[in-house]
Amino acid sequence: MNITDIIRTRYTSKAYDASRGLTDEQREQLLELLRLSPSSVNSQPWHFFAVESAEAKARILPAFGEANAAKVQNAAMVVVFTTHTEMSEEHLNTLLSQEQQDGRFNSDDAKAGQDAGRRYFVNLNSHSVEQQRNWMARQAYLSLGFLLFGAAAIGLDATPIEGFTPQLMDEILNLPALGLQSVVVAAIGHRSEQDFNARLPKSRLERGKVITLL
Ligand SMILES: Cc1cc2nc3c(=O)[nH]c(=O)nc-3n(C[C@H](O)[C@H](O)[C@H](O)COP(=O)(O)O)c2cc1C
Repeated sequence: MNITDIIRTRYTSKAYDASRGLTDEQREQLLELLRLSPSSVNSQPWHFFAVESAEAKARILPAFGEANAAKVQNAAMVVVFTTHTEMSEEHLNTLLSQEQQDGRFNSDDAKAGQDAGRRYFVNLNSHSVEQQRNWMARQAYLSLGFLLFGAAAIGLDATPIEGFTPQLMDEILNLPALGLQSVVVAAIGHRSEQDFNARLPKSRLERGKVITLL
């Protein structure tokens, strides 16, 4: 499928076929897609919970209202996107070590430059706890976009979900103790016959309203 086909045919699935799970290859691709998502200054301020078992889905279910509950129960995988509650010194050092291990630096100067550049951008977005958390949430939403496109590219249906109670999700997954907080959710799987949205035409504002060519 080319990009135009993917973006025209992908849509938000409203009902899933509970009998269809993911293949090992699909699961592997989705998890790599999350791990390799881009983020500002490679900050990767996230942790993704990939929920597949019926037991784990039942555990997180109370965090969802009626409108999204069936999607969570019947989708093949539910991803809970969480971000760190703070951009810690430990995380900044972990990022730098990983970049070194992955061969990103050919000199100590290059390593120091990357560290300084990242800290500069983090600081620009850290005038308050709330500002820093918003910045981290924006990175998580990028990974959501990545996942939505990628899922469609490998023939899977998906639902981005903001319709849940973050405080409840945080409690259920014990996130505060892990230094994490939930941001957004995505369900992924195979549409069912009951998915009315599959038959509706896509609706978007006209190009001239949202894009200016200069
Ligand atoms: C961040 C975000 C949160 C959303 N939350 C929900 C949700 O909780 N439940 C739902 O059914 N759809 C949800 N949607 C789906 C949107 O309504 C949908 O993306 C939009 O109407 C465009 O339609 P399309 O995705 O089918 O092209 C969400 C979409 C986004 C991007």
